[in-house]
Amino acid sequence: MARHILGVLLHRPECASLQDSLENFLDEEMRHTAMFRELNRRCAPEFYGTADYHFIKPPPGSVAVLRWLASRPWRFPFFIWIMLMQEERAMYYAKQFLRSEEPLEPHFVAVQRKHLADEVDHVRWDEDLLQRLWVPATRAKRRINARLFAWMMGEFFLGPKRAGLNVVRQLAREFPELLPSLPEMGHQLRALEHNQQFQLALYARSIVPRTFAHFDRWPEFATLGRVFQGYSNLTGAK
Ligand SMILES: [Fe+2]
Ligand SMILES: [Fe+2]
Repeated sequence: MARHILGVLLHRPECASLQDSLENFLDEEMRHTAMFRELNRRCAPEFYGTADYHFIKPPPGSVAVLRWLASRPWRFPFFIWIMLMQEERAMYYAKQFLRSEEPLEPHFVAVQRKHLADEVDHVRWDEDLLQRLWVPATRAKRRINARLFAWMMGEFFLGPKRAGLNVVRQLAREFPELLPSLPEMGHQLRALEHNQQFQLALYARSIVPRTFAHFDRWPEFATLGRVFQGYSNLTGAK
């Protein structure tokens, strides 16, 4: 998604003075995709030997709609908020990998270390993009985009739905003794969307402090606590 958006923004007049950074950004994201794909292939060649996706099977209709929206980020700057949030989270989790006292698989640690080094700049560039695409937007446009943001986060980024369930199904295939528990496991996985502890492990001020601080500035995000249990607007913007 980021590659799609950045490719378009490279040619937008609002971003002309950010050209070099955006080219770097795009180049690094392409290298990240290749790096994570390679890691997948090493871990599970039976799944990723010939395909980039295995557990994630996005419906073609949704992909087409998202692609259409993402090709117009100047109209739909909520994508930049998603990028900012996910990139700041990626930094947090990468740091957890590097700090782990348990010995972790070295290829995973190496990939996370490389990712962390690049994402620091990405978060800064996302903030720069918001300055250009969000700050000058009309109130109506910000309101619509804040709703789209809340919808998209709820649909794709809050709890295990499609791909998460596929992972558990695969687990039961590998350990058939789990098969009788599969319906209950699926039920409990789906319930995580409303589980406060789980939600706080995904999105909290300690994980995405910069993103939450930016939300605080905008009244359009005042009700975001309905989506993220860990978020409450600190400035009381209405
Ligand atoms: Fe990345
Ligand atoms: Fe990134």
